[in-house]
Amino acid sequence: MCVPVTASGSPIGVRTVHILLATALLTASSTTTPGSVRVAADSEHRIAAASRWVELPPDPRTIQRVGIIGCHQQPRPTPALMRYVAAKPDMVLWVGDNVYADTKDDPAHIERCYAQLEAKPGFRELRDRSIFMATWDDHDYGSNDDGRNYALKKQSHAIFRSFWRHEDRIPSDRDGVYHAQVFGPPGSRLQVIMLDGRFNREDPGESADTLGETQWAWLAEQLKAPAELRFIVSGYQVLLDRETKFETWAKFPQARERLFKIIRDSNAQGVVFIAGDQHYGEVSRMRGALGYDAIELMFAGINQDEPWVFNSSRVSPVANSTHSYAHIDIQWASTTGDNADPAHLLFRCFNAETDALELTYRVNLDELRMAKDAKTNDGR
Ligand SMILES: [Fe+2]
Repeated sequence: MCVPVTASGSPIGVRTVHILLATALLTASSTTTPGSVRVAADSEHRIAAASRWVELPPDPRTIQRVGIIGCHQQPRPTPALMRYVAAKPDMVLWVGDNVYADTKDDPAHIERCYAQLEAKPGFRELRDRSIFMATWDDHDYGSNDDGRNYALKKQSHAIFRSFWRHEDRIPSDRDGVYHAQVFGPPGSRLQVIMLDGRFNREDPGESADTLGETQWAWLAEQLKAPAELRFIVSGYQVLLDRETKFETWAKFPQARERLFKIIRDSNAQGVVFIAGDQHYGEVSRMRGALGYDAIELMFAGINQDEPWVFNSSRVSPVANSTHSYAHIDIQWASTTGDNADPAHLLFRCFNAETDALELTYRVNLDELRMAKDAKTNDGR
């Protein structure tokens, strides 16, 4: 939810935050005595940097149910959308390939694909009732497995911001659609970090990059925010093996290690990866990668399916019905007594035509902690 001071149409409250920030920085700098010209230049630089990265203020609403949606074939029926409406999620994360809008030269085609999504039964109802946060993967970006060299990436960026009503989350001149926000009061804070793995992505390789330097620096800043639980969302999987034919951060080994290291170095607790791209649901786990286990909840393909591929990190059954939906339910507080139950999240995938439960995976929030002596950004 980043809004530069110069953004048009920003809510007054957001503008006020930025004005206050700018004023604070100017005031702090103006107390420096020598070198007034240099002080002014430093202030401008700091304000420019801050306005590029400062997100909207925390949203006080407690998030208890999060719907996950991705890989949506907009020409086909989508009965799962009504199942999401019925489940009343507080928030829906659109994790990419939200439409299949591949085009080499026609931005209007991307708009038409989004219009088909908006016309689907349940979409507007869900949008009216839930907080939407979206990122893209290759097909809604506009080109299969494409990255930084996609010719229409700026046009697609503008269409994305407008369709998802993310003008206040993503500055128009940002080099991607990444954004973040913290929700809930202390003790129940969920930080959602939506990454953009397309706009700056290089071709896969040992030292190839996924995010671009600006997004890396932005991510390090976001991880300083206090939160008990953090969802880091990527359009393609972080933990899937590199030997498959599909996209995965494992095909960018230095970038993936950089991602793990930036989390470890931040001492941020509570990180869980959320990913899409494959047309089924599964959970992957990599021991100790973040200073604690890296856990990835992957779900996509709400109206399509495909055979699952080998994944040495998989620790769950695979949910692969054609029409499907998935939720994460969060129990923020531990209970005590005879029925003591630690704070936890529960990831579940369902068949959307029968409501049969296909996958359930529980993570106690205590599992997402650094070693006890480590300093953490949990605000405690
Ligand atoms: Fe897909």
